[in-house]
Amino acid sequence: MAVTAVRDGGPALRTPSDFSDSPLSRAVRQPLMLGLFLNLQDINFSSLPTSNSWTFDYNAELVKRADELGFEIAFSRTQWLPKGGYDGDASLDSFIALGAMAAITKNILLISTIHVLYGPLHPLHLAKYGATLDHIAKGRWGINIVTGHRAVEHEMFGWQRIEHDKRYDMAAELFDVLHHLWGETENYSYQGRLNPWSVNNGWITPKPLYGRPTLVTATGSPAGMDFAARHSDLVFVTSPGGAHIDSALETLPAHIRAVKDRANALGRDVKTIINPIIVSRDTEAEAIAYADAIEAGRPQPGTRAFATNNYDSDAHAWRGRGDARHKQGRNLGGNIEIIGSPEQVVEQLIGLKKAGIDGVQLNFYDFREDLEYFAERILPLMKQAGLRL
Ligand SMILES: Cc1cc2nc3c(=O)[nH]c(=O)nc-3n(C[C@H](O)[C@H](O)[C@H](O)COP(=O)(O)O)c2cc1C
Repeated sequence: MAVTAVRDGGPALRTPSDFSDSPLSRAVRQPLMLGLFLNLQDINFSSLPTSNSWTFDYNAELVKRADELGFEIAFSRTQWLPKGGYDGDASLDSFIALGAMAAITKNILLISTIHVLYGPLHPLHLAKYGATLDHIAKGRWGINIVTGHRAVEHEMFGWQRIEHDKRYDMAAELFDVLHHLWGETENYSYQGRLNPWSVNNGWITPKPLYGRPTLVTATGSPAGMDFAARHSDLVFVTSPGGAHIDSALETLPAHIRAVKDRANALGRDVKTIINPIIVSRDTEAEAIAYADAIEAGRPQPGTRAFATNNYDSDAHAWRGRGDARHKQGRNLGGNIEIIGSPEQVVEQLIGLKKAGIDGVQLNFYDFREDLEYFAERILPLMKQAGLRL
């Protein structure tokens, strides 16, 4: 629904959901949207060998294949870690890399994670870059809005970490301003209250094709959920109960209901996505053997890869991990773990849909190989089960 302009006689500020032909509106018509969680950095969850690579070329092939298979979303994360902080040595920026993928894809939405407070990035930069990518991608580009949960990242930018809920207030001010810059038909001026920037006679043209780029928020906290209900189209939720599928299915319904109700109360509608890792082989026993092999190669305490996950973070989203009240997963990557034969995978996906999930952003242990397996063995069963049109 359109946000009313604050300026008398100003234009209604619209979002991609206000256009029935926007890439986002097309995507949400699927019973269960499919996304791919690209890794633009070295990820070493386990020493079990894979084809994975952080390179643009490897990920470009993956995203083209996902586009061909009818996936709706490609997404990648961004981290700002000191030397030695990444699993391996390389990490591409997802703003630039997903933006570049616009030129080599046709239908898939491309969601770049951006730390919107770092710098700070001026709203005119974000508005102009966003409008440009929107036109290159024909409305298929969007932002995963993150505000930075690790102290070490804020310190890298030359300040102390900003208090958790204040970050969302600052991001809310920023996105109100961006929405105006993308939608206003006159020059726009604004003096930042929470942010240290101002805009004087700001003007962005061309306007994004569908009101503004698609906005995504990845969060688990009340402040983040409130921000998402107000500003985002898709909410990247996490399992409040931890990674085991049974815990996820138990705890997700109330969590999802809360964010959807919050959005509805504001006259908006949000869709929820989650990122499972799918570990599948023809039989349950083979899938478990694959999961066992991944687990056996996991980094041991005292090694560099083990240490990378231990930076101080104030994020709520991953607190379900280690909650002794719930069955826990195997730490295979992904927020939740879907392990089993193709038929069992589809049953678990049906369970997620029943829990209120509108889309899955898939992780695979070995992206190129496991995506092909998914395409051949699981996707046809999803269609049969009515999860895909
Ligand atoms: C699926 C998913 C992807 C995420 N990707 C990133 C990322 O790329 N970079 C980052 O700094 N944080 C990322 N986050 C972490 C969120 O930014 C983090 O949860 C944030 O602090 C929100 O905190 P909250 O859950 O306390 O609201 C991601 C979280 C989720 C659930």
